[in-house]
Amino acid sequence: MAKIAVIAGSVRKERHGIKVAKWIVKKLEEKNHEVSLIDPAELELPLLDKMYKEMDSPSEKLKSLHKIISEADGYVAVTPEYNHSISAALKNTLDYFLEEYFFKPSAIVSYSVGAFGGVVAGNHLRQILAEMGAPAIPSQFPISKVHEAFDESGKLVDTNYDRRVARFLDEFDWYIEAMKKQRKIGTPY
Ligand SMILES: Cc1cc2nc3c(=O)[nH]c(=O)nc-3n(C[C@H](O)[C@H](O)[C@H](O)COP(=O)(O)O)c2cc1C
Repeated sequence: MAKIAVIAGSVRKERHGIKVAKWIVKKLEEKNHEVSLIDPAELELPLLDKMYKEMDSPSEKLKSLHKIISEADGYVAVTPEYNHSISAALKNTLDYFLEEYFFKPSAIVSYSVGAFGGVVAGNHLRQILAEMGAPAIPSQFPISKVHEAFDESGKLVDTNYDRRVARFLDEFDWYIEAMKKQRKIGTPY
């Protein structure tokens, strides 16, 4: 069992991404992980002024987000592709923290209504997560034609993804366990 934070990337009223994020949460819970869904639409964080560590009196909302991010053993970032990159909402949410992510793995889930499943955004996200000290596992999980992959209720229609995600999350588990063990021994800073 590990603590995992799933960070959704879209705040659009008609967003498809929340279905993807909730599906990933369910898949992780089925593997007995303790999962927190971070939804920027609920958080409504302002565009970054001060990072969490620079704040004198962070809001209760930010304090609980800080707790989730700090205690997590790994992160799944679920990004839409907006103009070949990640969403501003996801980047803004991530940017509030830094050291909290260090020496923990991340996993990239991307999606789009097109055929390529947001892989270009996923590649940008890999660079960002590496800079934040939460390197992404080698595999990425792109979901193409996201509007057809799930029904209105959020149920997965394209069940091929169920099979593919099992392998992806097994790989993530491996990195979570490996880095957890190593963090117990110590970190260089
Ligand atoms: C500002 C904007 C830029 C977009 N750029 C891309 C793009 O570069 N590649 C792509 O495949 N889809 C692009 N799309 C379409 C998205 O894949 C589609 O709107 C998707 O549903 C977005 O995720 P969301 O519904 O969770 O917000 C773009 C959509 C928006 C709103």
